[in-house]
Amino acid sequence: MHVPVVIIGSGPAGLLLSHLLHVQGIASVILERKDRDYVEGRVRAGVLEMGTVDLMKRVGVDARMTKEGIIHGGIYISVNGKRTHVNIEELTGGATVMVYGQTEVTKDLIAARLAHGGEIVWEAEDVSLHDIDSDRPRVRYLKDGNEVEISCDYIAACDGFHGVGRKSLPGVREFEKVYPFGWLGVLAHAKPVADELIYAKHDRGFALCSMRSETVVRHYVQVPSTDKIEDWSDDRFWDELRTRLGEEDAELVNEGDVFEKSIAPLRSFVAEPMQHGRLFLAGDAAHIVPPTGAKGLNLAASDVHYLSEALIAKYKNNQNDLLSSYSDTALARVWKAERFSWWMTSMLHTFGDQNEFDGRIRDAELQYILSSKAGLTNLSENYVGLPY
Ligand code: FAD
Ligand code: PHB
Repeated sequence: MHVPVVIIGSGPAGLLLSHLLHVQGIASVILERKDRDYVEGRVRAGVLEMGTVDLMKRVGVDARMTKEGIIHGGIYISVNGKRTHVNIEELTGGATVMVYGQTEVTKDLIAARLAHGGEIVWEAEDVSLHDIDSDRPRVRYLKDGNEVEISCDYIAACDGFHGVGRKSLPGVREFEKVYPFGWLGVLAHAKPVADELIYAKHDRGFALCSMRSETVVRHYVQVPSTDKIEDWSDDRFWDELRTRLGEEDAELVNEGDVFEKSIAPLRSFVAEPMQHGRLFLAGDAAHIVPPTGAKGLNLAASDVHYLSEALIAKYKNNQNDLLSSYSDTALARVWKAERFSWWMTSMLHTFGDQNEFDGRIRDAELQYILSSKAGLTNLSENYVGLPY
């Protein structure tokens, strides 16, 4: 079997790439290690940049998103209980973000791929990549115990941080920062705390009040990396969230039944380059950001925007330059989002036993940003997403 593009991974990066190619008449097959229920049930990000929303529109997968997504023109930043509104829309001259869960993006894209005859091979095991230096690379995998081999023109590894793509890329250089804490996140049936997201810094640690709809909230608290989910009863979670929001906002917290609870470690990571021969990396396969800037899913989207444009230029006009420069183009935007996510993380979290001087500097930086129009504009410009 020969397919122009083999895509590994059916996360947002793989699904969106497959659909962007499809609307330009370029066929692809997606190989996914897990089953459909697992992929559709995985709870992750919640904030979409307008660039991501526009890509969903471009591929015609925006009907439910337009109806159910909530447009936000700002965020709140709370410091030890004192809340400041950041009017992002005004500071950026009209830019906004959309609150719409990654789970929903994934469900919509899977439905669209299948409705348009797209092929997603679920539970494809032991995927391996071969001859990526030749013009006929091959991908092998096991399906129901049988070995299958596909030959292709290009391989897009959209297979996340633990995937096979990056491991198959020779000479890759890795840059990493691991934080000494994670985020404990809950989903609960409850009314949101405020009309927009609250990013809260407190002497006891960071907290975030987000939402999925008018009736479902997504809240997080910073926890030490060593904490286990069993350490956190629902009551302990709500108490800690209220404490970190301060007395006034604590009153606004609506406790609802918690239907998902998990701890995510925080990490900054970049692999360079993002291509070799006929193999291209996109999304979490190439980079990870801590979630404080809400950039992970959005970077996956910008990567596949660049990669799809490059592949379309190749197939339509036999043009190679965009493919050759894909890694450089994508990495330029990736590093800016890495910087922003690292910066937001360092300003808003507590770092325990680290140098007290550093802690004071981080507090001063946050106070400066909150008191300066230039500072708030810098934050806002990055939060809504830098241009592609
Ligand atoms: P993924 O969504 O990871 O998709 C990769 C896909 O590849 C998966 O379906 C996987 O099963 C498949 N795969 C992996 N290996 C193989 C293989 N060998 N063969 C076949 N298939 C394979 N970002 C935010 O902005 N805000 C958040 O709150 C947030 N929370 C997160 C919580 C967690 C626990 C994690 C892990 C990430 C979170 N992120 C968050 C980041 C965001 O979800 C990711 O940036 C986004 O999912 C990246 O999309 P992707 O398609 O590149 O990778
Ligand atoms: C979320 O709703 O899951 C969310 C929102 C904003 C972030 C991170 C996560 O910065």
